[in-house]
Amino acid sequence: MSNCREPRRGLEWKDTDANAYQQNAGAFRRGITTDEAMEYYSQYCHQYEEVLRPGRYNGPRIAADAVARYYPRDREQKKIIDIAARTGFVAENLKARGFKHVDALEPSTSMLARAKEKGLYETLFGNMLTGDPLPIETDTYDCAVVCGGFGEGHIPCSGLTELLRITKPGGVICNVMREEYLVNVEEYNECLEPLMNSLEKAGKWTLVSLDVVPNYFIDLPGIVYMYKVN
Ligand SMILES: C[S@@+](CC[C@H](N)C(=O)[O-])C[C@H]1O[C@@H](n2cnc3c(N)ncnc32)[C@H](O)[C@@H]1O
Repeated sequence: MSNCREPRRGLEWKDTDANAYQQNAGAFRRGITTDEAMEYYSQYCHQYEEVLRPGRYNGPRIAADAVARYYPRDREQKKIIDIAARTGFVAENLKARGFKHVDALEPSTSMLARAKEKGLYETLFGNMLTGDPLPIETDTYDCAVVCGGFGEGHIPCSGLTELLRITKPGGVICNVMREEYLVNVEEYNECLEPLMNSLEKAGKWTLVSLDVVPNYFIDLPGIVYMYKVN
């Protein structure tokens, strides 16, 4: 289990950061349903690029760095899926590090349309990651990367089984999320790390690294899980 600390939320934040925090919090408020989160995202699609801009929201850079560390060579040959892609920040960071083949999975139509405009992705899937089968062949990807996709009303714990199915044996699953969600989100508190651990015990994947990182969102820490699929 990771080390969760109580964030000093807002104490030293600029007004612009505090406002961005509030706006983002609307998509992750306690009890929000997935449909409500989608509705929220579609209303604020364009503002989101500024609200979650680099420097304030550093998840996409952190995720791309983690994947690039794992693949120091042959990056142009790796097939990656960016899960919960939003408008493509993770793909922009992956491309800047030499990855070429990136697909997207993003259920918000407005976010997906904006991502498509940027021409970052080869294939775009408008699906939601749950425990239900995605329209993707088994063992398709060298890497599935999820950044900011786990949170209240977002990807359920059951989504892990689909991530495992679509990632090739020998490939990796990288999940970057806000650390406090491990305890603040009831579903994850009960099942996320226990499920990750039980999947490892069952031989489905092997933990490569688990890092708590500073300044994931403003000064709040993130957590980076990297698992190799068996
Ligand atoms: C905070 S954004 C993070 C986006 C992007 N990965 C980034 O780091 O810039 C969360 C995204 O998760 C998507 N999302 C929510 N529930 C999802 C689910 N069950 N499966 C896939 N994506 C989901 C939302 O539509 C939204 O675009």
